[in-house]
Amino acid sequence: MHTLSIRHPQRAVNRLALILFSAVLASCGIGGGSAQNAYNAAAPVKTTANTGYRTPRTATTQATGSGTSSFAGASADGLSISRVPVNGPFIAITFDDGPHGTLTPQLLDMLRQRNIKATFFCVGQCVQTYPDIARRIVAEGHEIANHSWSHKLLTKMGDAALLDDMGRTHQAIINATGVTPKLLRPPYGALHAQQRTLVNAKFGYPSILWSVDPLDWKKPGSAAITQRILAGTDAGGIILAHDIHAGTIAAMPETLDGLLKRGYRFVTVSQLLAMKTTAAPATAAP
Ligand code: NI
Repeated sequence: MHTLSIRHPQRAVNRLALILFSAVLASCGIGGGSAQNAYNAAAPVKTTANTGYRTPRTATTQATGSGTSSFAGASADGLSISRVPVNGPFIAITFDDGPHGTLTPQLLDMLRQRNIKATFFCVGQCVQTYPDIARRIVAEGHEIANHSWSHKLLTKMGDAALLDDMGRTHQAIINATGVTPKLLRPPYGALHAQQRTLVNAKFGYPSILWSVDPLDWKKPGSAAITQRILAGTDAGGIILAHDIHAGTIAAMPETLDGLLKRGYRFVTVSQLLAMKTTAAPATAAP
């Protein structure tokens, strides 16, 4: 830990600001100095197409942002969703907190090899730092969505600060990719009901939580991450993972192959929402 000089208070403040800034950037894999170069050196990556699996076509890719219906897995106002009742073995895997300079490209290779489409809940300042990776996410058919500007706890914010945070991130994603994000995942899954309504009214976002949480951010090891995801997933499920941890990425080949082997079919979160049935949730695994 750094010791701050009390004889030079301004220097100390500057240094503290630098440390805090570095800590924030480190979450996207910035700060090592070579992350961007490593990405550039690694791209473009050639992978072989998987002809044995194809993410299914769906009627629409639009999120039903202003939906008010309630179902198992949704809050009473229908704006906070942790799972979606669907007819069929459809699931959505989601990756939070990136893009990361080196790990996200590795993950994208893994997804492309398996023809799997995922949803990336990105941090605005990481999108601004890695616009090329954000563009690659979109170019390869994944969904990109809002995970706030700098991963602060949104429930501590007033309405003006909340809307500013959402708007900056919304615009950063549009600037980088040309795509308008349709979904929010609040950091830590935390958003007041009144904030959900406000954000939905201004940006059309529903708040997307999850039904499967492997707690990969606690770094339990790749085998544990795989086991937890395979054990916790069922049809209509939304899987939470983070593409800023090496252990999570290392767990993905076995996790993705295990889910495919069980007959699950990957769709984006917006696709999963569009598949929502009004009937009882399909709970049986395929
Ligand atoms: Ni997060």
